[in-house]
Amino acid sequence: MTQPFRFAHISDIHLPTFIRDCTPPTAFLNKRFFSALSWFGNRQRIHGKEVTDHLIADCLKSAPDHILVTGDLTNLSLAGEYERASQWLHSLGNTDQVSAIPGNHDLLLDTPAAQSGLTSYDPFMQGNYGGATALFPFAKRKNDIVFIGLSTAIETPLGWCSGRLGQGQRERLRTLLDEAGRDNLCRIVALHHPPAGPQKPNGGLDDFEDFTRIIADCGAELILHGHTHQSSIYALQGPQEPVPVLGVPSLSVRPHKGHHPAGCWHEYTIERQDEHWQIMLDVHRYSGLERPPVRIAQAIVKPA
Ligand SMILES: [Fe+2]
Repeated sequence: MTQPFRFAHISDIHLPTFIRDCTPPTAFLNKRFFSALSWFGNRQRIHGKEVTDHLIADCLKSAPDHILVTGDLTNLSLAGEYERASQWLHSLGNTDQVSAIPGNHDLLLDTPAAQSGLTSYDPFMQGNYGGATALFPFAKRKNDIVFIGLSTAIETPLGWCSGRLGQGQRERLRTLLDEAGRDNLCRIVALHHPPAGPQKPNGGLDDFEDFTRIIADCGAELILHGHTHQSSIYALQGPQEPVPVLGVPSLSVRPHKGHHPAGCWHEYTIERQDEHWQIMLDVHRYSGLERPPVRIAQAIVKPA
C-alpha cells in the first residue's frame, strides 16, 4: 500500500420514527408496542437528526476512503423506517464506498415484513472477496484492507436486546479470516454487538466465547462494534498478539441527554509498515450546531 487508508466508523443512528410509520395497528400486538412507547416517550428526545446531519457533513467533508455503518439505523423495524434508512445509506456514497450491517433495532421482530424491509440494506452488504455464498459474513476488499461484516441481529424476548452469530456465520468467519490472513490483508471485523468487555445477560453477544476462540485461532487486525452507545476499547487475544476491539458511541445522541455521550464518529487511518499494520484513531464528537465537531487527539490503536 502506498497511501494510508482512511475510513469512518458510524453506528446506532436511530433515524427518527414518526407516528405515520406506525401502521398497521396489528404490527404492535407484540414487543414493538413497548419499543414504540420507549421511542415516543423518551428516546426521540435523546437522538437528534440535526446531530446526525452535522456529523455526517463533517465526515463527508473529510472524504474518507470508506464508510462502515454498524447497525441500528431504525428503531421499530417498520416499513417507512427501512425506506428512509436505505435512502440515508445511499446519501453517504455508492455501494462501493459504504458498507453496512444490521443491529438489533433493524430486526426488532423477525417477521416476513421486517426481513423484506431489511433487504433494502442489501446493496451495502455485498462482498467482493472470499467467494462467500450466504449474505453473512460478507467480505469487502478495498486495496489491502478487507471489511468482514457479520450480522448479530436476532429477534429477542421483551426486555432483551442481545445478539447472536450462530454456527454458520462463525464457520464462514473462520474460513474468511484464514484466507485473508494468508493474503496478508488488514482484516477488519464488524459486528453490532460487543464481542469483548462486560456482557449484559439480556443485551450482549450470546456466542461471544465462540467468537473469542475464532479470534484466538485465526487473528484479525481490528474488531469494531456499536450497540452500547459508549466509547470502549478492549482486546481479544490473537494467535500472536492482542486484537483491539473498539466501540463507537451512537452517531445521533444530543449532548447532556441521559448517560450516553454526545454523538460521535470515528476516523481510522491504516498504514502498512513492513509486515505490520499501524492503526490510528481520531474521534469526532458533536459539540453544537454552530461549531465543527471536537477532534480528540489522534491515538494509536495498534502500533506497527
Ligand atoms: Fe443495538
